[in-house]
Amino acid sequence: MKWRIVNHYAELSRLAAEMVAEQVRNKPTSVLGLATGSTPIGMYGELSEMVRRGEISLKGVTTFNLDEYIGLTPDHPQSYHYYMNEHLFSKVDLLPENRHIPYAEKGEFSDEECKACEEYDRLIEERGGIDLQILGIGHNGHIGFNEPSLSLEVGTHVVALTEETREANARFFRSIEEVPTHAITMGVGSIMKAKRILLLVSGADKKEVLARLYAEGVTTELPASLLHLHPDVTVIADQEAAGWLPVEEIVKEET
Ligand code: GLP
Repeated sequence: MKWRIVNHYAELSRLAAEMVAEQVRNKPTSVLGLATGSTPIGMYGELSEMVRRGEISLKGVTTFNLDEYIGLTPDHPQSYHYYMNEHLFSKVDLLPENRHIPYAEKGEFSDEECKACEEYDRLIEERGGIDLQILGIGHNGHIGFNEPSLSLEVGTHVVALTEETREANARFFRSIEEVPTHAITMGVGSIMKAKRILLLVSGADKKEVLARLYAEGVTTELPASLLHLHPDVTVIADQEAAGWLPVEEIVKEET
C-alpha cells in the first residue's frame, strides 16, 4: 500500500484526477471503477475541467459504479445515479452506453432474487475487468457498501445497511427515516480484482478509521483492510485525516 499525504482536499482532488487522467492517456479504452460519497466530488470536478479543456477524452472509457441505494429511483436527488450525472456524466464525453451503475428494484432483498447482481459482475468481466478502481471509506471501514461483518461477499450483492452508515448518510436526507435500509454493492472480490486501486480519504472525521487501516491487520470487521492484500493500492489522504501518519512519501504541492 502506497501512502500519499497531501496538504488539502483540493490537492487530493487534483492528484487523484491526474492519476485517473494518466490511466486514460495510457489506455484510452480504460475501464474505471467509480465511487460516490462526498470525497470524490472534487476529483470529478477536476476531471470534468480536464475534459472541457481538451486535455483528456473519456470517449473510449467504460465506467462501473460501486453501489446504489435500493428504493430510490435514478431521478431521486440522493440516488447515486443522480449524483453521477450531476458531478461527472453530464459534464464529460463519456458515452451513455459505457456508464454502468448497479440497480435493483425495491423488493430484491435477497441475492437469489438479485438477477441484476450476477449480470453486473458478468458485464464487468465482459468489458475486461476494472483497470483503476476509485474508493472512498466509511467511518466503520466499509468500502462500497461492504459493511463490517463476520464474512464478506465476493460478488455484487444486496446488503442491509448498518445503522452507523444510515446515520452517517442521513446528512444528505431530510431525516434518517428517509435513508434507504438496503443497497446493491459490488463485493470485495469484484473490488479486489481491479488492477489498480486508489483510495481517497479526507477530513478529521476519517482520522480514526485511517489509523485502524494503517495499524490493523486484515479483518472482515474492517472491510478496507482487505486492500492490504492487493498488489497495487495507493491511498491519497489529506493532512486532516492523515497528518500524523509516519509514512515515507509525503506529497507537498504549492496551492
Ligand atoms: C458511502 C458510499 C461509499 C463511500 C463512503 C464514504 O456510504 N457507499 O462508497 O466511500 O460512504 O463517503 P464520504 O466520502 O461521503 O465520507
